[in-house]
Amino acid sequence: MLQGLSKIKMFLSFLSIFTICFFFGYTWNISLDHQGSRNCGCHTCLTDGDLRFRQIVNTAPNPFLSKTHRTTLEEYNWWKKLQYSSYDNSMFNATVDNLFKIFPPIPDVEGPNPGRCVSCAVVGNSGNLLRSHYGPLIDVNDVVIRMNHGRTKGFEEHVGAKTTHHIFYPESANRLENTTRLVLFAFKTKDLLWLINKFKPRVKGERIANKDLVMILNPGFMKYVHQIWLEKKGKYPSTGFMAFILSMYMCDQISVFGFGADSEGNWSHYYEILRNHKLRTGPHPGSHEYGIIQQLGRENKIHFYKGY
Ligand code: C5P
Repeated sequence: MLQGLSKIKMFLSFLSIFTICFFFGYTWNISLDHQGSRNCGCHTCLTDGDLRFRQIVNTAPNPFLSKTHRTTLEEYNWWKKLQYSSYDNSMFNATVDNLFKIFPPIPDVEGPNPGRCVSCAVVGNSGNLLRSHYGPLIDVNDVVIRMNHGRTKGFEEHVGAKTTHHIFYPESANRLENTTRLVLFAFKTKDLLWLINKFKPRVKGERIANKDLVMILNPGFMKYVHQIWLEKKGKYPSTGFMAFILSMYMCDQISVFGFGADSEGNWSHYYEILRNHKLRTGPHPGSHEYGIIQQLGRENKIHFYKGY
């Protein structure tokens, strides 16, 4: 009889402990939800869990210029020092006004929200893509961002064939497919004027891209990447690193390919033989940028494919 009673007691204590644990576990999960731990509609989201990381991502200015969002004077003054320009802030603003007479005034980008699940591949131009067989892994993503002279023809097996966004500046421009978004990485007002000129009706021949799919990076976003992410190291961010940080606003799951210098420390490319063996990483803090990508990969915030 006594043995039976103690068994019932044990069972009741077990039941109460279980109920308490279940209750606290449930409310803890709910409170995580309130802190915004589910930031997208995917199974796992880029900014899940890590409050500090989320804060850094959320403090960015608008990544793209638009009719309703302008670069501040402070941002403009930082940008103006990057490359020589004789144009002042009012010329910059007038040029931006003219941009949106031709290109979509509001860029077609949906910010992070609980209903969105966008997977992205950011594809740098590193020679480590050769022999990687990453093609299918890249093409499976909703968004594939490429840059500068990065091309796919003849390299599909290793770099994929899909390009939804292509980032370049005038000196690294190339003709894009009609369905690919041109993302301009401008260093000076003259670069914006270059873009306008490329789409003037009097310009003969094929357009370099579909004018309805043109997007222009905000100089203020470039300043943010340099100051917050790169802690002012190097002269300014590389196109690849800009593309990578930009992907944090467009994507909920990020895979990174094609980043990493060769064994001599040069940013050699998969599509050409390196001629200048003193190239290094140009004016960019290459190893610092690489270190950040590597670290985010280690923290499982992104998938980093190191190549071969
Ligand atoms: O050389 P390019 O700027 O066209 O390459 C695009 C981007 O890919 C670079 O800005 C850099 O971020 C990245 N890259 C790299 N390692 C290389 C070549 C390029 O990380 N070997």
